[in-house]
Amino acid sequence: MIKTILVTGGTGYIGSHACLELLEAGFDVVVVDNLSNSKSDSLSRIEEMTGREIQFHLADLRDEKAMKDLFDGEQIDAVMHFAGLKAVGESTEIPVTYYQNNIGGTANLLQAMAAYGVKNIVFSSSCTVYGAPETLPLREDFPLHAVNPYGQTKLTIEYMLRDLAASDPDWNISILRYFNPVGAHRSGEIGEDPLGIPNNLMPYITKVAVGELEELAVYGDDYDTPDGSCVRDYLHVVDLARGHINALKKLDDNPGLIIHNLGTGRGYSVLDVIHAFEKATGKPVPHRIVGRRPGDASAVYADPSLAEQELGWKAKRGIDEMCVDALRWQQQNPKGY
Ligand code: NAD
Ligand code: UFG
Repeated sequence: MIKTILVTGGTGYIGSHACLELLEAGFDVVVVDNLSNSKSDSLSRIEEMTGREIQFHLADLRDEKAMKDLFDGEQIDAVMHFAGLKAVGESTEIPVTYYQNNIGGTANLLQAMAAYGVKNIVFSSSCTVYGAPETLPLREDFPLHAVNPYGQTKLTIEYMLRDLAASDPDWNISILRYFNPVGAHRSGEIGEDPLGIPNNLMPYITKVAVGELEELAVYGDDYDTPDGSCVRDYLHVVDLARGHINALKKLDDNPGLIIHNLGTGRGYSVLDVIHAFEKATGKPVPHRIVGRRPGDASAVYADPSLAEQELGWKAKRGIDEMCVDALRWQQQNPKGY
């Protein structure tokens, strides 16, 4: 029985929501994070909310000695692996750092797991591995293609995990391909806390909605979509976190390697998201149409039916709830953690 989970990147946005859901589902949680893109306050808040303790290891996955010490000191049954660098633009500027951190860190983690006989892992992949989609909705068996260094690291890790599963049938590996995670826990206690000016749509809009940033630039209204702005499959982070619990439970059946999309299956345009935010705040979101952002696909959304069939998971929260929850987090924590 899987009981104690090592959550890598557990102080970060998605990892922190997963920690909360894990504790609420009765698992014990150990976190490792180097705090390169997060603060440990997220864990203190989760401990307060749940009345449960989280063992936190401040360490880098690339540090072999630290990983050995961690596995020596803890009895781990499975790993949820969120740790990684994730900014597409930055990955084109410092690609080697992305390869080193994401691929090197994962390789090191897997070696440590193997050495300690821990062979259950859930990995955070991304719909970016499908590249620019030719057919929608995206299914797990569609061709894979990286379009930037970040995506290449996700794809390479997927291949590494596939080869690992083929080499040893004792491994149970769940690859989850997320679409666009947004929103925050409804308590407003944990949420997305990006450093500096956000690159992504939702955290940017929330800052415009509370007046911290002046206006949103909408990157293009001349795409081949119903209103001309890009379409994405936005997914509430709590639904996403719960998907990880379903995947984890599936590992108990010794499935070998399994791959699932986690999305709602529904696409919303940038203008739809703006309107949903306006509904949440009752005020207009100042925005201006500008040119396209290089590298953006016009529309991306999932076929999430395999996750429903095989994991018994389906996203429950809609776009309005995503906006209300993102806004609550921003209003309760104007400066983040
Ligand atoms: P995040 O930056 O909030 O969390 C990642 C965490 O990993 C951070 O706390 C960071 O400090 C830590 N970390 C990075 N490198 C590390 C290392 N070498 N050793 C130890 N800790 C390290 O990001 P997130 O949005 O929570 O994303 C979590 C995972 O999900 C990432 O792997 C990301 O690529 C993937 N993902 C995210 C999205 C998204 O839109 N947020 C979409 C698809 C996939
Ligand atoms: N957008 C704007 N203005 C902004 C920010 C974004 O119009 O200020 C638009 C983008 O052009 C895009 C949509 O909003 O059409 C969503 O953009 P995001 O940056 O929020 O998300 P992406 O779909 O581009 O990419 C995100 C992550 C990637 C990940 C991908 C799939 O940044 O790392 O989701 O999971 F690979």
